[in-house]
Parts: sequence; structure tokens; C-alpha cells
Amino acid sequence: MKSKIDQGTDPVSCHGLDPEKMPVHVAVIMDGNGRWAKKKLMNRVRGHEKGADTVRSIVTVCRKLNIKVLTLYAFSTENWGRPRAEVTALMALLKKFVTDERQTLMDKNICLGVIGQKERLPGDVGRAVDETIRLTRNNTAMRLNLALSYGGREEMTRAVKQMAEKVAAGSLCLEDISEETVSRHLYTADIPDPDIVIRTSGEKRLSNFMLWQAGYAELFFTDTLWPDFTDRAFMDIIRDYQKRDRRFGKVQCSSNDGSPQ
Ligand code: FPP
Repeated sequence: MKSKIDQGTDPVSCHGLDPEKMPVHVAVIMDGNGRWAKKKLMNRVRGHEKGADTVRSIVTVCRKLNIKVLTLYAFSTENWGRPRAEVTALMALLKKFVTDERQTLMDKNICLGVIGQKERLPGDVGRAVDETIRLTRNNTAMRLNLALSYGGREEMTRAVKQMAEKVAAGSLCLEDISEETVSRHLYTADIPDPDIVIRTSGEKRLSNFMLWQAGYAELFFTDTLWPDFTDRAFMDIIRDYQKRDRRFGKVQCSSNDGSPQ
């Protein structure tokens, strides 16, 4: 039977979600493709292929929920150390995804962004990514952000180097460096910090993902392996998020007297 999302009904109201409390930015550590394949006695690459199907489905549900930014950890700086055949297969899958999904991204008014060392991608993959970024750059409803050759420590090291160069050149004053300045030198300079970070597959760590940006993100961990992660499970997380009390290190104040509650 088709889900309500497939039937085109409003997923926000039918899943009991509050449209006023939607997260702006959801970030996902898509983990468990390899274990999914192993459980089924398949090659790991088959797990990544099935994972790409889940990507399509989660992008669609985010668009329907009016979530403005979705960041997906698709390839980490550490992933270059995997067996050559797996890296090659992942790169081919990425190229296929950004090429095949161009029309859908246009139809759904979604722009593609990348965070990470885009220059390290194989030439043909980098060109396919760049072309999709170019084609979709004026789309305004949502940004699909792929973290490719991304590592939070590399990102911060790069930002420190850029700021140090500017200080040495005299275009940036040491005293003027603030948290805001650091944020502006990260790959994510033009997008808000994630409200939610989700990790699938039962692991409970950030694995070098958005270390600076996730400072106040709500963290969600699920045992489900990424290829099995469903729209429904995603919406359940959004519903749980809407019940959480985000204080950002402050105390909850009553509306009129400012006293802590
Ligand atoms: C982690 O699972 C997943 C990855 C390193 C790659 C993620 C890639 C995809 C979901 C598919 C391609 C992406 C796009 C955007 C089309 P793992 O392999 O580490 O799983 P394991 O921990 O079970 O071995």
C-alpha cells in the first residue's frame, strides 16, 4: 500500500507535525550500508546503492516538510582510506546521483551544495557535481548539501590557515576574530547551523562531522541501518525534536517576569 506521502497528502499534518516548529537544517550521518549488505550476503557496494535510494526518499520528504537545508555525510576525509574498489564505486555512485537527479532537483526547486574538499574528487565526478551546482544555483525552496571528502577537523584547520593568512596580509585584525569570523571561514559560511544531527546504524559518535556547527544541535541516534531508514522514521525524529526544550545554555523564562522555570 502507498504511504500517505506517496499519495500526495500533507505529511506535516498527517504525521502530527507542527509547521511552526520545523527544523531549518537537518544533517545526517548515513551509516550502516556495509552492514546492511553483509546481513544480506551482498557486496558492500550494493549497500551503498540501496543507501542512494534512501537518499532520494529522504530528500523528497524533506522538501515536502519544507525543511530548508539537508546535509548528508556522503564521503569523509577518512573514507579515502577504504579499499580502492569501494572508493571507486562510491565515486561512480555520486556521479550517477548528481547527474540522474538534475531534473528532479529542478522540478522540486532544490539547489545542490557541497561542503568538503571538492578539489580532491576525481575530475569527472567534480565536473558532474559542478554542473549540477551550476544548473540548480537559482533554486530557492531547499538546499541539498552533500558533505564530500569532508572532515570537521580539516575544515577548521583550513579556516585557521585562511584567517592567519589574512592577519599576516593585514586584511584581518587579530582582535576582530570572533566566533562569527570563524563561522564565515567554514564550508558552511552561507547556511545556518544544523538544528538536528541524525546518525543511523546504532553508532553514537559524530565521526568528525560538523564539529563546530553541531555545537547546539539536537542529536538523534537510531539502530536502523541507513538503507532501511524510512520517511516515517525520519518524521518520527522530527516529531520528537519538536517536543525537545532547546535552551542554548540559557534557562527557560516565563513570558512576563523573566524568572527561571
Ligand atoms: C557509511 O556506511 C556510508 C558511507 C561511507 C557512504 C554513504 C553513501 C551513500 C549513502 C550512497 C551514495 C550517496 C549519495 C549522496 C548518492 P558504511 O559503509 O560505513 O557502513 P558500515 O559501517 O556498516 O560498514
